[in-house]
Amino acid sequence: MALTAREKEHWPPYRLIEDSIAERAAAKLDKLERLYHVGQDLAWDGRQVLADLIAKHGPPRLPAQKQEGALKLLSILLWGELAAWAISADLAERMEDVEAKMAATSQAHDEARHFYVLRDYLRALGEPVPRLGGIGRRLLLNILTTDSLVHKLIGMQLLVESNALAIFRALCEAEIEPVLVELLPYYERDEARHVGLGVMYLPRLLARLSRAEAARAAVFQVSCVGLMVSAGLTMRDQFREVGLEPRNLATYTLKLQDQIVRDMLAAARGQAVGKRGVRGVLNPTRGIGPRILDFVHPAGGEAAAPAWQRLALEVWKRGALIADRALA
Ligand SMILES: [Fe+2]
Ligand SMILES: [Fe+2]
Repeated sequence: MALTAREKEHWPPYRLIEDSIAERAAAKLDKLERLYHVGQDLAWDGRQVLADLIAKHGPPRLPAQKQEGALKLLSILLWGELAAWAISADLAERMEDVEAKMAATSQAHDEARHFYVLRDYLRALGEPVPRLGGIGRRLLLNILTTDSLVHKLIGMQLLVESNALAIFRALCEAEIEPVLVELLPYYERDEARHVGLGVMYLPRLLARLSRAEAARAAVFQVSCVGLMVSAGLTMRDQFREVGLEPRNLATYTLKLQDQIVRDMLAAARGQAVGKRGVRGVLNPTRGIGPRILDFVHPAGGEAAAPAWQRLALEVWKRGALIADRALA
């Protein structure tokens, strides 16, 4: 192999693995822009997909014993999609980088489709859609109305999207109704992409936070998780009615959130901001996270839990049910 004198002098070409910080930052922005282009390539025609599925399986009908629980869950997903639409449109307006704006705009386009397809599916079911519980309503409103871009991204991209992904997956596995079972994977694919926006964009925002701002972001996350857990407690019986085991649902959600935080850390290293890029974000699978999981969802089932724990959970659940009605 013939090398020029200059090539010899500079061999091995370290630059192949040592991109400059500026190049790495540009590469990250390229990836964000790619979310937009992939979103465009994979955009599905919601009207066509739903019409084809109904033609294939006939009009959707829920099994009588699962109807109440399934409708309650679908109502949460429906209004969650509307909130996600508004939040991603807001992100698109407020984020500074063009590439991030493109990714958020693509998400808004997806969320609009998710909302109208679910609305049309519910219309095809022909059943009245129950109102959203007050705690879920409060959670979505908190994320919708916060002025902080960081809080918005943590609430939506990290918490709500991962929770929605877990519910989509669980509803699919429970095989409640064939049209829904074939429809939800379309949602899942899009939601997985939406998580990417938070993973890639949050580190650069978090790295700039002061200590007090990072603490406020952590408090916001904890308050959202508290609302989610409380809302979950109010729906425990309905989850089971539909065939979803609450502990499995929570475990899967935490697994997704753990992966998101790891990916964020990797992204932060890529952007040369290191651990500063995840400050203010708590990994729910670390610290007291697993103990909270075991407390709320005892591994051997509620019946096998000690009396004090059953009592505490019962009190929490009753309080949550009262709040759920009061805030509705
Ligand atoms: Fe969505
Ligand atoms: Fe989404």
